[in-house]
Amino acid sequence: MLDEIDKLGNDFRGDPAAALLEVLDPEQNVSFEDHYVNLPFDLSRVMFITTANVRDAIPAPLLDRMEVLELPGYITHEKIRIAKRFLVPRQIAESGVPARSLAFDDEALARIVERYTREAGVRGLERAIASIARKTARRIVERGRGPLRVTGANLKRWLGPEEYPEEEMLAAPAVGVSTGMARTAAGGTILFIEALPVAGSGKLKLTGSLGDVMKESAEAALSFVKSRYATAAADGFFASHDVHLHVPAGAVPKDGPSAGVAIAAALASLALGRPVRNDVALTGEATLTGKVLPVGGVKEKVIAAHRAGIREIVLPRLNEKDLEEIPNRITRGLKFRFVDRVDEAVSRALAADGPRPARRAGKG
Ligand SMILES: Nc1ncnc2c1ncn2[C@@H]1O[C@H](COP(=O)(O)OP(=O)(O)OP(=O)(O)O)[C@@H](O)[C@H]1O
Ligand SMILES: [Mg+2]
Repeated sequence: MLDEIDKLGNDFRGDPAAALLEVLDPEQNVSFEDHYVNLPFDLSRVMFITTANVRDAIPAPLLDRMEVLELPGYITHEKIRIAKRFLVPRQIAESGVPARSLAFDDEALARIVERYTREAGVRGLERAIASIARKTARRIVERGRGPLRVTGANLKRWLGPEEYPEEEMLAAPAVGVSTGMARTAAGGTILFIEALPVAGSGKLKLTGSLGDVMKESAEAALSFVKSRYATAAADGFFASHDVHLHVPAGAVPKDGPSAGVAIAAALASLALGRPVRNDVALTGEATLTGKVLPVGGVKEKVIAAHRAGIREIVLPRLNEKDLEEIPNRITRGLKFRFVDRVDEAVSRALAADGPRPARRAGKG
């Protein structure tokens, strides 16, 4: 078992990836020779297992020799179960608190997971539980107090102010602001695509720590929107405006093509002067000609959208199968739209009626 294969160093001390290339290749490793031992080993009957957090950081030739099994991160519901069965009993025992003297309710554990830790695993969760267990031990020793029940309401007393704010959908539909979803190391999150018209000539300005792939997908979305919604009003709009597109939080790096559909919705909303529904979240890669391609992380994204109060989710048709992995109690309250084309996604996202608010800024 080779742990953390994505963190291989490669410098003047040598290149372990090159050695591993021979070790892991079943065609060559019948007589693997280590330069230090200088004796051939037959490794052909060894089954190597490697682990990694990020696929992209594994050297490509190595990855090519592996069969990849993806293990999704835990969702909140699973973390609560792990905490109840393993982490809480273990930390209570470690701290020497009698088992009857400390209990966590589900709401408290859910809050630690969502507002204090936001991680893929459960290490931070276990640390938070450990910290509460130690404080309890001290309280029992100093003041003879107990038993103690940690609830969602009294959690702040133990852990201090929350580290992460609650993620909530927008309060109202807005022109030029669409709701997307992203997969993060800690699961999923919703994000807002903000587009604002400024005087100009149909160009795009991008901010929000966007990577190259995301920038290009925004350019492609703009070209698509320009050609698809080539009405007199939309043409007039792009003739006299640039669009500034921003994706908060500005300091969090974002990349990947999966926001393409959400970006197209924000841009079409501007061009047509129609607000985007705030209760709809979109994900999907958009091609230049307006096809929607499938994306990863659907489970995490849907769970995040559900948590934020979203009611309808627009997904690429080819992601329909991914819904099977999502617990029923989450999918039950949501409406799903599977789309093949960007314009279908856009028309789901744009509010059906309502006033056409005047555009801000510029000559219009
Ligand atoms: N399903 C589980 N049941 C009980 N405990 C768990 C479970 N998953 C994780 N843990 C706890 O989390 C700790 C860390 O898990 P693990 O060592 O598997 O992380 P990892 O996947 O190797 O992460 P990293 O990439 O950070 O090394 C474990 O020691 C254990 O205490
Ligand atoms: Mg590990």
